[in-house]
Amino acid sequence: MKFNVKDNCIEVSNGSKSIFVTIVTEDIINISDGIKSDFKQDKDKIKSNVKFEVLEKENSIKTNKFLIKVDNLVVDIYDLKNNPLCVNYQKDIVSKKIEASEAAKIVGHVVDEAAINNENMIKIKTSKDSLFFGLGDKPGFFNRRGYEYVNQNADVFDPHLENMKNIYKSVPFFIVKEPNFNYGIFFDNTYKSNFDFCYTSEEYYFFGAEKGSKDYYFIFGDGLKDVVSNYTLLTGRSPLPQLWTLGYQQSRWGYENENDVYKLVELFEYHKVPLEVVYLDIDYMEAYKSFTISKERFPNFKKLVSDLKAKGIKIVTIIDPGVKAEKGYYVYDEGIENNCFATIDGEVYENVVWPGDSVYPSYVSAKVRKWWGEKINFLLDLGVAGIWNDMNEPASFKGPLPDDVVFSGDDKQYLHEEVHNIYGHYMCEATYEGLLNYDGKRPFVLTRACFSGTQKYSTFWTGDNHSIWAHIQLAIPQQISLGLSGLAVVGTDIGGFGSNTTKELLCRWIQLGIFSPLCRNHAGNSTRLQEPYQFDQETIDIYKEMVELRYNLTPYLYNLLKEHEETGLPVIRPLLMHYENDKNTYNMNDQFLFGENMLVCPVVNQGDRNKRIYIPEGDWYDYFTKKKVPNGYSIYDAPLNTIPMFVKGGTIIPEYKNVLNLDNPEKIEELYLNCFGDSKCVHYQDNATDFKYQNNEYNLYEFTVKGNKLTTKMLHNGYKEYKSIKIK
Ligand code: GLC
Repeated sequence: MKFNVKDNCIEVSNGSKSIFVTIVTEDIINISDGIKSDFKQDKDKIKSNVKFEVLEKENSIKTNKFLIKVDNLVVDIYDLKNNPLCVNYQKDIVSKKIEASEAAKIVGHVVDEAAINNENMIKIKTSKDSLFFGLGDKPGFFNRRGYEYVNQNADVFDPHLENMKNIYKSVPFFIVKEPNFNYGIFFDNTYKSNFDFCYTSEEYYFFGAEKGSKDYYFIFGDGLKDVVSNYTLLTGRSPLPQLWTLGYQQSRWGYENENDVYKLVELFEYHKVPLEVVYLDIDYMEAYKSFTISKERFPNFKKLVSDLKAKGIKIVTIIDPGVKAEKGYYVYDEGIENNCFATIDGEVYENVVWPGDSVYPSYVSAKVRKWWGEKINFLLDLGVAGIWNDMNEPASFKGPLPDDVVFSGDDKQYLHEEVHNIYGHYMCEATYEGLLNYDGKRPFVLTRACFSGTQKYSTFWTGDNHSIWAHIQLAIPQQISLGLSGLAVVGTDIGGFGSNTTKELLCRWIQLGIFSPLCRNHAGNSTRLQEPYQFDQETIDIYKEMVELRYNLTPYLYNLLKEHEETGLPVIRPLLMHYENDKNTYNMNDQFLFGENMLVCPVVNQGDRNKRIYIPEGDWYDYFTKKKVPNGYSIYDAPLNTIPMFVKGGTIIPEYKNVLNLDNPEKIEELYLNCFGDSKCVHYQDNATDFKYQNNEYNLYEFTVKGNKLTTKMLHNGYKEYKSIKIK
């Protein structure tokens, strides 16, 4: 075995084959077969000067944390006391898959895929007590142990349930929690890939892809927090959003014309429910053609946007990637002229999406991304505030795109099978750049499909859920999982997208939804109307109170988003993230932490008027009554108008009061400190609009409250200060 060191990369060769071990940081080791794809996360950007030593005689590499043994080109990672951390399972996988019978296939039963090819899978030994987390939006509980998954972005309208192996997003990152240590694996491969977390065997888990490279990162961390932080160091974090994006957002596929929108705004005003953003779904376009506006239904679009803007309400429009194949339609014509679309056998490839026959822009090309980004100006010139990217798995109604559809890059061609999972990612990059270049404000992009790293460009929603209790239940573990996968700025369709909601479900969903960074009610076009005023006065009252609470909590949420930008930690967290030694938290799917110090226990079962809650160690107080609550399990009263939520003693929640629109952050001059005992917090403030904060234009306050006395220390002073800071 020969060891060849170049900078922080060690090539280990047996004469005919090589494996590459890169010491990316103290905690991150990259293991690769050396096959280069253009779509790898750019580990070279991280400047590493970690010291290591090659022990050639022992076929190993020693860092200050790990002993990396390379035997027969198999890379095993141990700690310095020679305890195994990430060690290969060297026997073959014994598949337990049963082929479905012909009869089962005829009635449409799910047919299991053929056995996995051993050669391509990376098999790692694990203990009976290990837990698995992450892997993006996969439906089900957030502990993934016992399940197998596939990463292949898919537009799935059937209710998302734990038996589904893949839906819209592909995030090939997961965390392994062993009894005495934690680590993550990021499999840097964009092809369709497989993950088996002790579904096949209790002795090992495996992951891999039939195509592309065997290239993965071992990401260590003392706790789950450090693993997530290290993973996002590698793939990126969401930059701070504009403040208005944290306001209440209303959407529906079915606001068909200007009148519908004016009526909607009027009704929100009438019922005094704060409204920050209205979404326009595909109906605003002319025949579902991206970058057009229906003259018939939206004849005075610009006026509509500015009338709403005068009330502080922003418009966000949907954009689909599928471009209608129609000569004379300018986007199609320009794209054809400049070879912007995917091809097959030398011809532009067509499939069917909303506009009918459609073609697919090749976003893997920087030239195409620039073109697409500039197309957005059409909407921005009209005053649109953000872009909602949908159908970017990419969706196709006439069967899946064949693997060999060609997507041209700038100087190279790629096959669909390689770029499918990153199609949405590059569409978001194009959109983000387009928005940024337009006015330099923090871009608001919302996307359904994505890959690892898309968090740098976009906010996420969980796609087409249904108005069913199973889906309000899913909203908790799904958002937890997205957060553990680096996607912190997320939300679900409040009320449910498909199927018909009920009053009770909507009330419970808004109680949960106000804690999502994206707080948006959205519904499908053939479903029951679900704006809050579609039900009775009680619904309006509950809804309004929740939305107002959301506005009050905005400064706290904004702080959490700043924390995410700096550390990669999510907003919606499993209890386990901060109570790793408490086994009760390991499978807790029906309550979550909103930042470290707020605990939210939503009611997610029909008819329940109380909730079985679990309070971890420490002093905790009811948010509303400020009464101390007992540790451990208890039954808590939760009538329909109540969301059980608790705050840890010693915490200050920075809040607004009577700020029910976030359009002018610079006009918000009062801050209220909601204190839970003698307490302390660091509070971040900036113009919440552009990127000046990156040039020191921000404030960092340190508040300390003892008794009723507030002491404020400015840790950084670079922005206009609040005029008044009061204890609530
Ligand atoms: C997709 C989206 C949904 C949208 C609809 C129509 O189903 O997921 O949110 O309303 O398309 O554009």
